Amino acid sequence: MIKNPYDNPDSILDDVEKRVLKRHLEHGVQDIYMGTDESLFHPWVGASGDVFLKPLRFDVRNSLYVNILWSKGPGGIGRHRHRGPVSAYTLEGSWRYEEYDWLAQEGDFVQENPGVIHTLTSDTGMKTLFFVQGALDLYDEQDRHLKTMDVFSFLNMYLDYCEENSIPVNENLIF
Ligand SMILES: [Fe+2]
Repeated sequence: MIKNPYDNPDSILDDVEKRVLKRHLEHGVQDIYMGTDESLFHPWVGASGDVFLKPLRFDVRNSLYVNILWSKGPGGIGRHRHRGPVSAYTLEGSWRYEEYDWLAQEGDFVQENPGVIHTLTSDTGMKTLFFVQGALDLYDEQDRHLKTMDVFSFLNMYLDYCEENSIPVNENLIF
């Protein structure tokens, strides 16, 4: 096991650097490990098709929602506009935006920037890791604003699902 530098007699750090590192004991935040079974897939209420979410992090300080989006077959999440940036890494299958000419496939990375309205669709099914920062607005085909969603909306969806199915809430996801 690796010793912490502040109590490792072999450490080459000087006393100031050791003291700085030791501040973490009181004021730092520990690294977090999440095993594969520590979260579950639940339905995305309101999506089209069989679309599920596996929450990995509800960051309620920074309005960041980290999740795996799973479309079991053809499906999507409708027209939406982000108010913050989104990063996505495709784990399985493929997906696209109806407005663009690219197709994200396994191993492909997508960076979405705020401000446009676009329509997420999967023709084949997919699993994708998403980092969603800030809010997104959902619209109908006539650009009528339907609702705004943020990390608390997704947290609510998860909590409702747990409550309705008598599943214990994993508080470790909220940090
Ligand atoms: Fe998007």
